[in-house]
Amino acid sequence: MRMSMAVRGSCGSVTSAFLSSDDRLLDQASNYTSGCGVSDGSDACKSLGGMAFGSRSSVIPAHSRIRVILCRLPVLALGRAESHARTPHRYGEGVNAARRAVAADVLAAAREHDAAQSDRLARFRNVEPETAELLGVLVRAIRASRVLELGTSNGYSTIWLADAVEGVGGRIVSVDVDAERIALARDNLERAGLDADLRVADAAEMLAQSASGTWDLVFLDAERGAYVGYWPDLLRVLRLGGLLVVDNVLSHVDEVASFLSLVSTEPAATSTQVPIGAGVQLIVKNP
Ligand SMILES: C[S@@+](CC[C@H](N)C(=O)[O-])C[C@H]1O[C@@H](n2cnc3c(N)ncnc32)[C@H](O)[C@@H]1O
Repeated sequence: MRMSMAVRGSCGSVTSAFLSSDDRLLDQASNYTSGCGVSDGSDACKSLGGMAFGSRSSVIPAHSRIRVILCRLPVLALGRAESHARTPHRYGEGVNAARRAVAADVLAAAREHDAAQSDRLARFRNVEPETAELLGVLVRAIRASRVLELGTSNGYSTIWLADAVEGVGGRIVSVDVDAERIALARDNLERAGLDADLRVADAAEMLAQSASGTWDLVFLDAERGAYVGYWPDLLRVLRLGGLLVVDNVLSHVDEVASFLSLVSTEPAATSTQVPIGAGVQLIVKNP
């Protein structure tokens, strides 16, 4: 009778155990083991690995009991997948299903509301779902722990930002001039089990009050006609390497043209357009 198996060891190595009543085989393995000790990857260990899974050619004196012989083999001998499978769980979660459901519900209600409004300003005007996803990715990608949103509305985009900020252990401040919307956003964030600092405040004032280099990421989604006036403060309040994200650059090209032109002449910033949703401008303050 002979059994062989691989069991997981520690510190990036795999231990192979050979259980056998074939004493010759076990003694042969024993000899090899004493040769390789605990040093991974030696020729002796490699030979033992090959032998234990097939070869039985050597003649070695017998013993009468089952023995377990352990030889530590290099991880590479059994493939890197083994190593990865053992890697401890060290990553945070993405947006969970419950939050996705709340966000989808908030968006659906807002779209129904918006469809019934003739006045543009009465609409919630949420970002597209793919833009919301992008916001969460960006926050995680640059580990933005200090996030400012200008234009909260009902809190749809805030849910995605707040979820990602939670993932990196940061905080988000989101402002809107409309107190009713801030109240609604607060309810929606609570439904999603998220924490956010929601304020009734004007975007220009919020920027003016922010110290230089305060924010890792600013999401600008308010009234586009004011963006040119915000630009000097937007650049000032971002930290080096910080990101300004602007929505609606493709859906409202004319309204953002002068702002984007101003950005393009700024030597301290680098910008590109992402053609998803309503069009998103990414502007990094050059590190
Ligand atoms: C397009 S909506 C924001 C949508 C939200 N970001 C989302 O995707 O869920 C624009 C919001 O900006 C707010 N707003 C307009 N002017 C503002 C200002 N000067 N300061 C702060 N908020 C402003 C409006 O009340 C409105 O709720």
